[in-house]
Amino acid sequence: MDFNLTEEQLMIQQAARDFAQTELLPGVIERDNEQKFPYEQVKKMGELGFLGMMVDPKYGGAGMDSVSYVLAMEEIAKVDASAAVVMSVNNSLVCAGLEKYASEEQKQKYLVPLAKGEVIGAFCLSEPEAGSDATSQKTTAIDMGDHYLLNGTKNWITNGGNAQYYIVIAQTDVEKKHKGINAFIVEKGWDGFVVGKKEDKLGIRGSDTHSLMFTDVKVPKENRIGEDGFGFNFAMAVLNGGRIGIASQALGIASGAYELSLKYAKERKAFRTEIINHQAIAFKLADMHVNITAARMLCYKAAAEKDAGLDISESGAMAKLYASQVAMDTTIEAVQIHGGYGYVKEYHVERMMRDAKITQIYEGTSEIQKIVISRSIAKK
Ligand code: CAA
Repeated sequence: MDFNLTEEQLMIQQAARDFAQTELLPGVIERDNEQKFPYEQVKKMGELGFLGMMVDPKYGGAGMDSVSYVLAMEEIAKVDASAAVVMSVNNSLVCAGLEKYASEEQKQKYLVPLAKGEVIGAFCLSEPEAGSDATSQKTTAIDMGDHYLLNGTKNWITNGGNAQYYIVIAQTDVEKKHKGINAFIVEKGWDGFVVGKKEDKLGIRGSDTHSLMFTDVKVPKENRIGEDGFGFNFAMAVLNGGRIGIASQALGIASGAYELSLKYAKERKAFRTEIINHQAIAFKLADMHVNITAARMLCYKAAAEKDAGLDISESGAMAKLYASQVAMDTTIEAVQIHGGYGYVKEYHVERMMRDAKITQIYEGTSEIQKIVISRSIAKK
């Protein structure tokens, strides 16, 4: 077992760190306050290859491994969790899903611009009445011969307003339950497709989360991904990888809050000494460091297993479950260490605490991760 990162992985980590410090840090508070999408920053992320990191260069990607992706995600999320989720959805849910399961024509048309970061994508599974219970899709796609007719509403869609291409999961045959679900590529601007209201969120306020409405949208037959009835298995497989992305986002939020807390504790004096010299603070920092290191190991393990072509349903869920809990615990303690300063925006940790919460909710709540893990261990 080799715990050392390769030269290439270290370079990617450094590049992401530099990008986060120079391009994301200035303006992150303003974007959070004003719910402003990081347009320019996302464009630059595309130019640097961060939006199609694991995609084969022949499809416009950077051709890197999943461990490099985790490293870059951590560095980006350390500074701006909103930019990180844009990156995670585009890489893990959209590009990865297309690269593995789309037809060659679909790849040329959709994956190439997405992997190059010329456009971004969205993954549309959740509905007003189907979040965790993903088989209960109410959105329908009726087979009309040469096209499907898509009707329904999707909720809480990351990149909902700014995406150009959307992977939409819909029921094509209710009798067949999850075997009657398909995934389609839908383009912004098609007749009957309306981007609905933008959500006013607790955290990740720089990212855009929308509901989407589809009314008699004609989706060409060739835009279905995979064989008829493959949509649910497609969504599950894609989400397994997506969970590594969100776990890394959570890891980044936690390590960002820890680094700020450590720095603050070394500078801030109380009772005639730097507060790091008080065990009440030092023990909090020790706990953070241990928990973050453990979360990082789970992320690396899941990513390494993905690169080795292994089943990552369990390891991805474990990484997400644990890292999101660590993000929540660490950011709460980071605010505590900062005292009154922690409660104001300028010191970043209150935003991190708000941002952390979503990592326990999207791409499967913590409870869903426990379902995935417990089913996996029961089979052993
Ligand atoms: N990996 C691969 N396949 C899986 C799987 C997994 N983790 N979980 C289930 N499947 C497969 C099963 O093998 C089965 O396939 P077959 O019939 O071919 O054998 C099929 O899916 C149905 O399985 P279940 O009967 O176990 O399905 P279920 O109804 O009990 O649900 C669940 C399983 C794990 C709870 C699933 O519904 C789930 O993961 N729900 C959460 C959905 C989710 O993560 N939503 C988040 C939305 S996306 C998002 O947040 C994006 C964003 O914008 C940030």
